[in-house]
Amino acid sequence: MKFTKGKNIFDLFMSDKYLPLQTLIYLLVFSYHMIQIKNIKKSYGTLQVLKGIDLVIPERQIVTIVGASGAGKSTLLHILGTLDYPDEGEVWYDQENVAHYSPNKLADFRNHNIGFVFQFHHLLPEFTALENVCMPAWIKGCGRKEAERKAFELLELMGLKERISHKPAELSGGEQQRVSVARALINSPKIVLADEPSGNLDTQTKNELHKLFFSLRDELGQTFVIVTHDTELAEMSDRKIHLSDGQIA
Ligand SMILES: Nc1ncnc2c1ncn2[C@@H]1O[C@H](COP(=O)(O)OP(=O)(O)O)[C@@H](O)[C@H]1O
Ligand SMILES: [Mg+2]
Repeated sequence: MKFTKGKNIFDLFMSDKYLPLQTLIYLLVFSYHMIQIKNIKKSYGTLQVLKGIDLVIPERQIVTIVGASGAGKSTLLHILGTLDYPDEGEVWYDQENVAHYSPNKLADFRNHNIGFVFQFHHLLPEFTALENVCMPAWIKGCGRKEAERKAFELLELMGLKERISHKPAELSGGEQQRVSVARALINSPKIVLADEPSGNLDTQTKNELHKLFFSLRDELGQTFVIVTHDTELAEMSDRKIHLSDGQIA
């Protein structure tokens, strides 16, 4: 092999000539740590909601899903989050296709790998903010002290240090959502899935929550998939998926 003057081996490797090799190496490295769905189809009765969706979620990115009401956004998010089974298709987390795991195995898989934030916080009313955040860690089998230490750190990160012993009803809408973000993060999930997380918040609180998502991406390297009607959030995201008529438009 002849080296061109002024070019090093890296320049040479990056030339178009080696594109197939570059692609192969990229696939080998990145397919090992990747969340990906392939040819997902889902119907409810005669209504075909998802008509063959393929999607790769890169790590450390915020992917948003937009589309009209009824377009199938929540259905897609639920299948990605293993809360619902697809009729056809694959759901890959790294090297595992989890699409047809049993309900028990999936519950355990979700607890370890996926965090959820919903439009309505779904916090348990009888428990304090700290206890609500601890819950997924306790379910995972983490000791009480260790779970509380992590939960406290996360609530501090969310600016809620002074609110740890408050119950959900004693918190504002924005605070409740930040508690649910902390709860989603406690088991260090591969991915956080959020379904219209700011749909119920006023403009200022909504913007604060969105800022929080971006700082969690930047500081913790957290990956997010967020269903949203908020065009500003969608435009700021790393990738915007537009769902229309059961397909990615
Ligand atoms: N469990 C279900 N049973 C029957 N139809 C459903 C069910 N869940 C969703 N659908 C229907 O599937 C379509 C897509 O719903 P959804 O994914 O919730 O849309 P989006 O989140 O984009 O508003 C809607 O027409 C809805 O009525
Ligand atoms: Mg929805």
